[in-house]
Amino acid sequence: MDGDITEAAALRYGSGQEMELPVITGSEDEKAVDIERLRSTAGLVTLDEGFANTASCRSAITYLDGEKGILRYRGYPIEDLAEKSRFVEVAYLLMYGDLPTAIQLDDFSAILNSSSLIHEDMRHFFLAFPNNAHPMSILTTMVASLSAFYPVPENPNDEEEAQIIANLVSQVRTIAAFSFKKFIGEPVVYPSYKLRFVENFLNMMFSSPVSSYEQDPDIVKAVETFLIVHADHEQNCSTAAVRIAGSSLANVYAVISAGISALWGRRHGGANQAVITMLRSIQEAGDDGRQFIESAKNKKARLMGFGHRVYKTFDPRAIIMKKLCHRILGKPGMTDPMFEIAMRLEEAALSDDYFLSRNLYPNVDFYSGLILKAAGIPFDMFTVLFAIGRTPGWLAHWREMRHSENSRIARPRQIYVGPLKRSYIPVNLREKHSVGVMRRSRTKIVVSKYPEMADPSGEMPEMG
Ligand code: SDX
Repeated sequence: MDGDITEAAALRYGSGQEMELPVITGSEDEKAVDIERLRSTAGLVTLDEGFANTASCRSAITYLDGEKGILRYRGYPIEDLAEKSRFVEVAYLLMYGDLPTAIQLDDFSAILNSSSLIHEDMRHFFLAFPNNAHPMSILTTMVASLSAFYPVPENPNDEEEAQIIANLVSQVRTIAAFSFKKFIGEPVVYPSYKLRFVENFLNMMFSSPVSSYEQDPDIVKAVETFLIVHADHEQNCSTAAVRIAGSSLANVYAVISAGISALWGRRHGGANQAVITMLRSIQEAGDDGRQFIESAKNKKARLMGFGHRVYKTFDPRAIIMKKLCHRILGKPGMTDPMFEIAMRLEEAALSDDYFLSRNLYPNVDFYSGLILKAAGIPFDMFTVLFAIGRTPGWLAHWREMRHSENSRIARPRQIYVGPLKRSYIPVNLREKHSVGVMRRSRTKIVVSKYPEMADPSGEMPEMG
């Protein structure tokens, strides 16, 4: 199913020229103008900064409808998967197109287990990172470094591809837990074949050689649900980065590292951390939320966890995460005043025309950080958990792309707005021509050996 050509779009341009462009229709009746012949026929390209109106590919993995708040993985509604499925089942579904049978699930779990250790020599890498290194900086580095320990054949066969997928789904989780142990100065805890995927992760994070970790089924379910709702989201920023990097046939570990790097940004996967920072600042200011709402409306702040490029109504994942908050934070001893603040912010925003007129609703990040906080996941690890969840989605797109006959290197066009042709100026004559773009600084630029802030995005997160 590659989308049928169902009609044509007429384009009138220049001095009355016209051309017809085919319109293709997807399985959910989405329509796209196929502009493959636009430049060769009309000498035109399209400009769509941020790609808000541009489909970069055909995909059968995830469908979302931003106007209706619909999200389905391979046709299964996210609400059903979040309630009834395990993360490993969802990873298999995204990758291979169907929910696994019991035998397929056992086989997939077995290869994930057998791939859960990283090469022991990689443990030395952790010694070289500064203690306050942000776990996302460690994760991007370590995932790309997997390529040095697990060589990838030029054209992996099905078995080699399955091993690559298992390595990444399993080892991103192991590296994440090891990076946390590095930060708190504890010895790493190895994965165990006796534990399921999420329990294994929590055990690697919170047990130690001197104390065991008691699994709370509600916390396990909360983290499992968090990973499921983060597993894929069609052509989001980091998945688009994976497809672009993968289109050059780059090493798959480097390709996934590119996705992790894109996810780190506050506009994308870094938002779950930014929401907690925002709620903490509102709490410390003694603000009931209304002052902050005003600052967001005056563009002095962003209501983090609100708004979305695609959803123009509730992000269905935000509804799932909010329900989970009620369940987890309603347990004795688990209440969190930040949840009250978040609900007040949501209520205030959704009764304010600034947000309603811009279709700004809570997205997956608005409540998800509170879930992780309740699970005892340290603040700096929130985006890392998003990466653990999204890894199967990234790999499913990498796999779909490499098996597609339309697969070409991604190479967008541009509209040039720079200087016209001009003559070369010898260096001794440049002073008077210089536009002073880069004036030599009179003060010595000092670069500290270790940046004060671990996180280059400028947020001063603290672990724990
Ligand atoms: C994720 O793409 C995906 O699928 C991503 C994701 C996934 O699963 O992969 O769903 C995960 O990244 C969720 C989004 C997490 N990010 C945040 O919560 C950060 C806060 N949100 C915004 O930065 C913003 O809403 C974006 C980045 C999410 C979307 O940006 P757009 O589509 O480029 O929208 P925009 O910046 O052009 O904003 C349109 C208007 C502007 O106002 P005007 O110029 O019309 O006056 O809405 C305003 C913006 O100022 N606006 C906000 C706002 N988000 C947009 N105003 C206040 N608070 C906000 N959060």
